[in-house]
Order: sequence, then C-alpha cells, then structure tokens
Amino acid sequence: MDDTLLLIPGPTNLSERVRDAMAGPQLPHVGSEFYSMFKETVGLARYVFKNEKGEQFVFTGSGTIGMESSVVSLVSRGDRTLTLINGYFGRRMLMLNQVHGAKADKLEFTGGKAADPDALRRRLRKTKYSTVFITHVDTSSSVLNPVHELVDECAKAGTMAVVDSVCSIGGVPLDFDRLGADVVFTASQKALAGAPGAVLLAVSKRAMERMEKRKSPIESYYMNLLKWKPVMDDPKMYLATPATQVLLALREALLEVKEEGIENRWERHRKLGELTRGAVEEWGQRFVAEEGHRADTVTSFWVEDGKAGPIQKTLESEHHVMVSRGIYDDKDRMIRVGHFGILQPEVLGRALGSMGDVMQELGMSARPVAVAKRRKQR
Ligand SMILES: Cc1ncc(COP(=O)(O)O)c(C=O)c1O
Repeated sequence: MDDTLLLIPGPTNLSERVRDAMAGPQLPHVGSEFYSMFKETVGLARYVFKNEKGEQFVFTGSGTIGMESSVVSLVSRGDRTLTLINGYFGRRMLMLNQVHGAKADKLEFTGGKAADPDALRRRLRKTKYSTVFITHVDTSSSVLNPVHELVDECAKAGTMAVVDSVCSIGGVPLDFDRLGADVVFTASQKALAGAPGAVLLAVSKRAMERMEKRKSPIESYYMNLLKWKPVMDDPKMYLATPATQVLLALREALLEVKEEGIENRWERHRKLGELTRGAVEEWGQRFVAEEGHRADTVTSFWVEDGKAGPIQKTLESEHHVMVSRGIYDDKDRMIRVGHFGILQPEVLGRALGSMGDVMQELGMSARPVAVAKRRKQR
C-alpha cells in the first residue's frame, strides 16, 4: 500500500509535510498552541474560499457533516426546498432535506447532463423555495455544474443557495464573495489534500441571520452552525473535542495551497483534467459527463460491462495505482479517476500510460502508445 498512487476521488495522496504534521505528540485542544493553530487554519480557509465577507467555519467531521449542517441549520421543518441532482451526492442532499422535514423537491438531470439554469429559472418562477441545493461537481458522474448561473437564478428569485463544493474547492475556480451563494462547503480530503475528517464552510451574513431568526430551534447539537460560531470567533470556547491531528494536517495542507497560490492550483488542476480527458478520448471510451461540463478534479467514463473490476484490480496489483469504480449500480461498468490535490501532471501522465496498457491487456480498445507518446512530450 505504501507506494500506491491514489487516483480515487478522495481521499487523496498526502504530502510528506502533511503526514509529518499529524505525526507529533498529541496536541490538546486547550492551550495556546492549539488556539493559534486553529485561528491560522480558519484564516487559511478564508483564503481558499476567497471569503472576506461571510463567516468561515472549520470543524471536524466528514463532508457529509457539511451537507447535513447546511440543511439542518438553514431549513426548518415544512420549508419547501429544491435540490438539483446529477448524481449520487445530489440524491444524498435530497435525502438529507427529507430527513430534516423539508418539503423537498428535486430537479434531476440524467445522462451526464449538467443542471440547466433555464430549467431552474422556470421552476423558480412556478414555485417559491426557501433554499436551493446545488452540487458543484458530483463526484459520481464528474459533472461540473454551471454554479454561477445557477446561483444567479436563485438570487433573482430571492432564494438562498447552498453549494456542495466537496469535489471542487482547491481544484476548480470558486470565489465565495463573488459567487453570492449563502453556504459553500468542502471537505479536507480532496483537492485541498488534507487528511479526511474536516469540513470547511463559508456562510453568508444573510444565512446567519436566517438561523438566528428561525421560529423553530435548529434540531441538532453538533451540526448546529450557531453553536460553532463562538468557537470560530474564539477557539478557547468549547463545543466538542476536535480531532486535532486532522486539523494539524489541514493547516499544513492549506499552507501548501497558499504557497502554491490558489490560482496556480486551479491552473494545475485544469492541466490534470485536460490530460485525463485526452487519455480517455485516445482510449476511445465514453465520458459519463456531457462535453463542456467535465470537471477538472475527477473523470468518470464508461467501460464494457464487467471490465471495471479487472481494470481496477490489475492497475493496483501490477502498477500500484488505485482508481475507483462507479457507485452501486455502475460499479462494473464505470471507472472514476480522481486527479486532484498534490498530483503533478507528469505523475498522472505515467499512471494514465499504465492504465492504457492495462486496458489493452484486457482486450479493450485502448491505444496506449499515443498516450505514452504524449507523456514523453511533457
Ligand atoms: C460532492 C460530494 N459531496 C459530499 C461528499 C461526502 O463527503 P464525505 O464522504 O467526506 O462524508 C462527497 C464524498 O465523496 C462528495 O464527493
């Protein structure tokens, strides 16, 4: 496992600096060392979200905690909400709205289609929603949604917008202040290249006000953003014991993002996306996501039914590269390649070359020679 290159859509490979950051003696969550580390981490989170206007939250829990804390904090029982769906994580968001008692509607885009701003506009004209939930990149389909246009439609209709950016922040351009969404959240283990277990949320003042003025209390303790706010303002405040190692890793990972520069990181991810899409095209495989809406962080493509397992297994055992298969029903016929975090184009190029070899060995229409040639040109 030691030298396996992770090309799964999270968690991703950790830099040595990040690993070292987790390896020291136990850092207690009380004491000046933790307080200053935590404040620094929240400041760095503001940097990666480009969030100067809103509130910034960082606490431990997986990305699903980000999804659920947005729902439970913003939505009251009986509120009408709309979730845009183009994959597994959109469906999960819908489920969370249902679990928390919303009158939860959906607008579903199938067959790898991105969410259509015109369809959203039509729906928002017909029905008044309190909140619209959008997935920036659905990791199951790798569809990249036109998040600016979608959030603009919400703003025109006077509806709050929540954006799940778990598979985008750090790898796909996003500027919280300019976007104008009410909540944008991500998790530590994808393009930010931290260890799994931290969630980061940017929240508008308007959304904070809605939480404060709710008629019914927020039906959660740990996922109640109003309870986390005092901790963000003053890390000496206690709500729950944080996973300090996870936060140490996150601080280091965010420092690395800042040292690279967020715009440079987006550009590197653009190259990673382009390289992967180029390889898939050369292999003659079919993308899951429609053209123009393919993410730079993850690429999903269809393979002959039954071949996804052998591709994954052979690539790992012979080349020490791990990719993912599709989720549930798609597990035998879809491959998902995660290309984010600290990954460099040369490393990805070599791994894609190996993948082409494996597909050819397995009798698929892969053309690895062209990929290998392109690899040498870089
Ligand atoms: C788009 C998206 N949203 C939410 C989640 C849930 O995050 P976690 O698995 O960390 O709970 C994931 C996980 O892969 C994701 O890709």
